[in-house]
Amino acid sequence: MKGVILAGGKATRLRPLTQVTNKHLLPIYDKPLIFYPLEAMARAGVEEVLLITNPEYSGHFLNLIRSGREFGLRVTYELQEEPGGLAQAVGLAEPFARGSKILVLLGDNIFTHDLRPPVQRFGAQERGAVIFAKEVAEPQHYGVVELDGEHVLGIEEKPAAPRSNLAQTGIYLYDERVFSFMDRLAPSARGELEITDLNNLYVAERSLRCEILEGWWIDAGTSHDELLEANVRVAELRRAGLL
Ligand code: TTP
Repeated sequence: MKGVILAGGKATRLRPLTQVTNKHLLPIYDKPLIFYPLEAMARAGVEEVLLITNPEYSGHFLNLIRSGREFGLRVTYELQEEPGGLAQAVGLAEPFARGSKILVLLGDNIFTHDLRPPVQRFGAQERGAVIFAKEVAEPQHYGVVELDGEHVLGIEEKPAAPRSNLAQTGIYLYDERVFSFMDRLAPSARGELEITDLNNLYVAERSLRCEILEGWWIDAGTSHDELLEANVRVAELRRAGLL
């Protein structure tokens, strides 16, 4: 299994902080945000990681992460020239994946869930994909997952009437066919190739599973308040020895 971390995007909601550097290099308590997905990759047992970012500030990542040796990883880099969406960014990993299954993490998600068991289970599975969901109080703000057992029936982006309280998080496992699915995607109303549309292609062949995240999860990159919340909670978890 190879790992892909998406750390591009526009980060407009975190301006003016993101006029200083890339969102994923902002501090979360005592470390830059990008350290959390890198450490999650290492904990999951993944050794080779592709970090995809945008050209602006890309040198900051190289200076900080270098070869990835400090994390026990081999990190290489790819540039997403324009922020064309999460699915477009995943597509850039094709030469890196070279026929392997991939674990994709959004660079602004922090979580305590242990990915090693699901990564091993998926490694042994013939085909398909896995998403990870978390129970939330206000699902209408997220991609909402509808389940039949562990099979995903559908994912709806920010629905007015959510069919569950399960939010899709920024953790995905894909088989090697994911790159051939890219041709079937068309840009959304906001002009991006959407990861939800990609995942719904797996739903259409009934090969998308969902695992429920245990412990704590945050999408730290959506607002200044979420960024602050991430800092406070990570400080608490670190003091309790839980992160
Ligand atoms: P978002 O938070 O949805 O988008 P963004 O980072 O551009 O922020 P904003 O909406 O405030 O302008 O992105 C989720 C994650 O995916 C984040 O870690 C950045 C990454 N990303 C890419 O790598 N490439 C992309 O084209 C996009 C849109 C996001």
